[in-house]
Amino acid sequence: MRLDGKVAIVTGATSGMGRSTAYLFAKEGAKVVVVGRNEARAKEVVDNIKKDGGEAIYLIIDMTNLDEVKTIVPKTVEAYGTVDVLFNNAGMLSLIPITEMTMEEWTRVFNVNVTSAMLLAQEVAPYMKKQGKGSIINTSSVAGYAAHFGPVAYSTSKHAMEGLNKALANELGPEIRVNAIAPGAIVTAMLDSVGGEAGVEYMVTGAPLKRAGKGEEIATVALFFATDDSSFVTGQSLRVDGGYEV
Ligand SMILES: NC(=O)c1ccc[n+]([C@@H]2O[C@H](COP(=O)([O-])OP(=O)(O)OC[C@H]3O[C@@H](n4cnc5c(N)ncnc54)[C@H](OP(=O)(O)O)[C@@H]3O)[C@@H](O)[C@H]2O)c1
Repeated sequence: MRLDGKVAIVTGATSGMGRSTAYLFAKEGAKVVVVGRNEARAKEVVDNIKKDGGEAIYLIIDMTNLDEVKTIVPKTVEAYGTVDVLFNNAGMLSLIPITEMTMEEWTRVFNVNVTSAMLLAQEVAPYMKKQGKGSIINTSSVAGYAAHFGPVAYSTSKHAMEGLNKALANELGPEIRVNAIAPGAIVTAMLDSVGGEAGVEYMVTGAPLKRAGKGEEIATVALFFATDDSSFVTGQSLRVDGGYEV
């Protein structure tokens, strides 16, 4: 088991790619901290992990509230003693165009997609530094590379995540490696909210692999970044998008 005894925080683990990653990390021996807003789904994820012989707890946190975000690491350390892996995966889509953007919406999107990730990195860093090792994995998007994938707040927040990813790698080495996953179209509740695969048909037909991805195909990449399989990789952002725009 490649994460045997390691402690992993997975935000947005109540759904989609975060949930798939929580299951894979637990299967690989990690004690998983499942973070999300929906208690029924959080409990279900933890119950499923335990049913399979794994170890997990859940924390109900709204990432728009930065005071709540600041409780995640102390509660993790209280339960499991330290943190080895942080998967900053929680994210929200905003479909509001610039002409109708409000500061409330802009702040909400940035708190969930960027600021909470920065705060969590800041809080896990001392534990990872102390133990001489740690991995932070950020969730960017193909919308972090080009603006045509999403409206202004989402796209800008994912571009910011690309910058945060590099800055964290630069400041937190040599003990901590920091890498990002940039998904393309992945079949999750978020994709369903924009019409599923049909809603992003151009991304599916325009990519060499001719399909949307699955949450499990993000989880395996997160596992690569979480383990020593990627021991000489930091500051990178890996597109997991079926080859769109190659
Ligand atoms: N699906 C795609 O095609 C795609 C493409 C590129 C990037 N991404 C990125 O991938 C990540 C995961 O998304 P997904 O596709 O797996 O979507 P998803 O199935 O909708 O899952 C989103 C997760 O984020 C959590 N979340 C959202 N807002 C939150 C908030 N305010 N506070 C706490 N948790 C919150 C949700 O928790 P609750 O459900 O418990 O509220 C859920 O667990 C996101 O960062 C997204 O931007 C997705």
